[in-house]
Amino acid sequence: MTNSVDTISVAQIAGAIGAVISGIDLDAELSDDVVAKIRSIWLTHLVVFFRDQALAPDSFLRFARRIGTPVEYPFVKGLTEHPEIIAVAKLPNETVNFGGIWHSDTVYLDRPPMATMLIAREVPPFGGDTLFANMYAAYDSLSDGMKTLLAPLRAVNSSARADVSKTREDRIRDGGQSPDLTEYRSEHPVVRTHPESGRKALYVNVAHTSHFVGMTESESRPILEFLFKRAVRREFTCRFGWQVGSLALWDNRCAMHNPINDYHGHTRIMHRITLAGDVPR
Ligand code: SIN
Repeated sequence: MTNSVDTISVAQIAGAIGAVISGIDLDAELSDDVVAKIRSIWLTHLVVFFRDQALAPDSFLRFARRIGTPVEYPFVKGLTEHPEIIAVAKLPNETVNFGGIWHSDTVYLDRPPMATMLIAREVPPFGGDTLFANMYAAYDSLSDGMKTLLAPLRAVNSSARADVSKTREDRIRDGGQSPDLTEYRSEHPVVRTHPESGRKALYVNVAHTSHFVGMTESESRPILEFLFKRAVRREFTCRFGWQVGSLALWDNRCAMHNPINDYHGHTRIMHRITLAGDVPR
């Protein structure tokens, strides 16, 4: 396939978020125009998917470098030859799936990743889909009163909250690492402004956000619970079913994701790259 902006087509998969880009071979040389087109579709749809991309790790990294700067994930050791790529796996004997809770990636870091890329290497015979949610839509849906209340607030995000920690235990064991007991914590605005679109997005998530700065956890909890629920209203989400060679690129600045753990006894193996981001503002 010869890549050109004219061969690219886009099919939206849900009302609020998600589109499949076709007519492109990510293993081939990509011109600046093609990369700019992919980026613009991605910024519009928040998560884009490509099918049938037989990218070896080198090619996966090469494509990632056209979109941003790959960074290492703090808790799971990367592939030996490609430390920026981690395996996100669930094996037949395992019951928890990595990251199986609504979240935006590593928001407990001062500079959380702009984007994440995931490519499917082995998929279960059924299930294992991933849900995505549009955090612009979540913010836009709030009343003016709630927007005013949230505007000055910052929240504490931690890597050590129990629900998310248990979703990475198998991967840490599998990676042969001794458990990293470091707790990463970072404060970020509850509503962030996307540096490229200029739009406001809700920026709290049930996996990592513990409380508002200057308030206790129990004081913060009722509003946070409301926001966690509001953020994943069904009409703000899409659901993507993976095939081997499917590749997703999502924007952590305005989208959350949640892989569904419904394929016990089967194997699901993905390779993941995260791309450096800025300080949320
Ligand atoms: C993740 O949170 O990065 C995993 C997503 C998935 O496995 O679909």
